[in-house]
Amino acid sequence: MEIRDKIAPSQLPDVCGRIADDLVSPEGAILVPRGSEIRAVLRGAPGLPDQLRRWGIERINIIRDVDVSFEEFSELLEQVAPPVDRLDPELARHTLNQVQDVYNRIVTGEDHREAVWELVREGQMLALEVAKAPQIILCLGRVRNWDEYTFVHSLNVSLLGTYLASRIAPDRPKFAESMAIGGLLHDLGKASVPLEILNKPGKLTDEEFSVMRRHSEYGEKIARESGVSIPEILSVIRSHHERWDGRGYPDGVVGETAPLEARIAAVADVFDALTTKRIYKDAMESRAAVSLIVESSGTHFDGAVVRSLLRQLGLYPPGTVVELSDYSIGVVIGAMDRDLLRPKVLIQVDGTGRRPSDGSRFVDLNAGDGRYIVRAYDDLGKGGDY
Ligand SMILES: [Fe+2]
Repeated sequence: MEIRDKIAPSQLPDVCGRIADDLVSPEGAILVPRGSEIRAVLRGAPGLPDQLRRWGIERINIIRDVDVSFEEFSELLEQVAPPVDRLDPELARHTLNQVQDVYNRIVTGEDHREAVWELVREGQMLALEVAKAPQIILCLGRVRNWDEYTFVHSLNVSLLGTYLASRIAPDRPKFAESMAIGGLLHDLGKASVPLEILNKPGKLTDEEFSVMRRHSEYGEKIARESGVSIPEILSVIRSHHERWDGRGYPDGVVGETAPLEARIAAVADVFDALTTKRIYKDAMESRAAVSLIVESSGTHFDGAVVRSLLRQLGLYPPGTVVELSDYSIGVVIGAMDRDLLRPKVLIQVDGTGRRPSDGSRFVDLNAGDGRYIVRAYDDLGKGGDY
């Protein structure tokens, strides 16, 4: 998966990815051709960020590659708590076969309506499984081939989306159920995208990309034609590529204009893409992958949904309200070295319920004064210590 972004020259050493457009000197000479790996460029020209700034270049278009290997993700999960759980392999296999059946029927032009309804029933069962789960539940199966990626990805978006939905709106079980079904169906339209585009290992041309982008509308159409009419399911399918800043597709809606279920699906979609090994990609460091999600909140993603996800993983991005081990309560304001486990906190209320003096308001949990986070609250769901 690729994400396009604009960054300041000073941020170059912190990101993984490629330069999206040629970097040109004031005299018009191409300094760095587009497509260059940022890390390789900086190895050869460590002074580049300063030079770009001197030339008045304030923003650089980059393309981030956002895949981490299965091994790296497992490593990341070992650092955080609670861990991610694995879906019962039997149930996972059955659902994957069902998703595959629907795709095959669409590709071969067979009647797919009954198969879509089977998948709807499968989604209802998954929602019940996820509701019982104390921790994030994913199908952490290794993907053997590209085709299988789409099916495993659909299942993971369903599971993660449902988990988040059930924490964000615990009093709406039907909402979580719609996420489960919507997740399974969200990329259904890819069955109508030509295989040579879907399976292309390299970069898509603009024209190919515009065909690919139509999958969300195709998917909604297929679901409607199969008799799916629940608005939440349909909006997961149509709107999972919308972005918080309005630069998504197909409608380019901004912020909360995109329904909550679509904003949850967008996070689940990218999170799973980040954490699944892909045949044609080099691995990205897991820490960088998580940082990327954090940095993209407020631009690509709804920050509240991102905080909810990271809180479930035991990570604390800026803006999270946390309670420390001495009963004080504060807001996370940042992290040294992107250590989301031990961030800096601005204390609002100390352990005795009073506002602390200015000198003791800032706590850097990385500095090791013995305090640690015991629970976190987010701004969509209720606070909790699970
Ligand atoms: Fe998609």
